[in-house]
Amino acid sequence: MGETIVLPAQTSRRAELEADGWVVIARSFGAQLDSARIDRQRLQALVAKAEGSVRELADADVESVLRLDAMTAEDYPGSAATQHTPLDRRAATPSASRRAFGAFGPDGDLVAMTFVDVEGTKAETQFTVVHRAWRGQGLGIAVKAASVLTLAAEGVTQFRTGGSADNLAILRANDAVGYIQDEEWVTLGRNVR
Ligand SMILES: CC(C)(COP(=O)(O)OP(=O)(O)OC[C@H]1O[C@@H](n2cnc3c(N)ncnc32)[C@H](O)[C@@H]1OP(=O)(O)O)[C@@H](O)C(=O)NCCC(=O)NCCS
Repeated sequence: MGETIVLPAQTSRRAELEADGWVVIARSFGAQLDSARIDRQRLQALVAKAEGSVRELADADVESVLRLDAMTAEDYPGSAATQHTPLDRRAATPSASRRAFGAFGPDGDLVAMTFVDVEGTKAETQFTVVHRAWRGQGLGIAVKAASVLTLAAEGVTQFRTGGSADNLAILRANDAVGYIQDEEWVTLGRNVR
């Protein structure tokens, strides 16, 4: 597939493009959680029941972040709208506006992480990833829940997230944390001759 265009699923331009030979090659979504709807106790329970120990990441974790990112860079489903750019050292370093939360296995290895951009009272998840050997054990949910709990306590009121609509695990993780889907996007593609 050559060119791609990402646009809201409901836009009228989509029909024009489809009539012109473009086809849907991927679907993605956006979802929101408002702080007023957060169930703190439930989120705390989701963090507590995770196998690994969960905490916010700091400068000292950068090597672990880069290692986990390199191991998982190919694992993100979808297309242009949801692709993951491998982290460089700067992108892997948490800051006041780029917060990160992780889960660690019994030997201290970072096995799950979520990175969240924060601007004022708004937060947007950049990506969430779990080491292949640790998937399906609640760690994706746990790091997402930890990010929401910490940032809400600091005054963040609006949390946004998104991803590939074909990624059942992240859809269900978002559901579990309380996000409500409010955007649907399509990626259109066409072969360039
Ligand atoms: C998406 C991802 C972060 C989820 O993390 P995880 O630790 O495996 O997920 P959890 O164990 O917390 O489970 C989350 C939910 O998804 C479900 N789930 C987990 N793996 C699943 C799978 N392969 N297929 C369908 N559902 C799945 C779980 O049952 C749970 O739902 P439930 O609460 O309704 O039971 C992880 O699979 C991953 O790293 N994928 C590759 C990177 C990626 O796609 N990231 C998301 C885009 S940013």
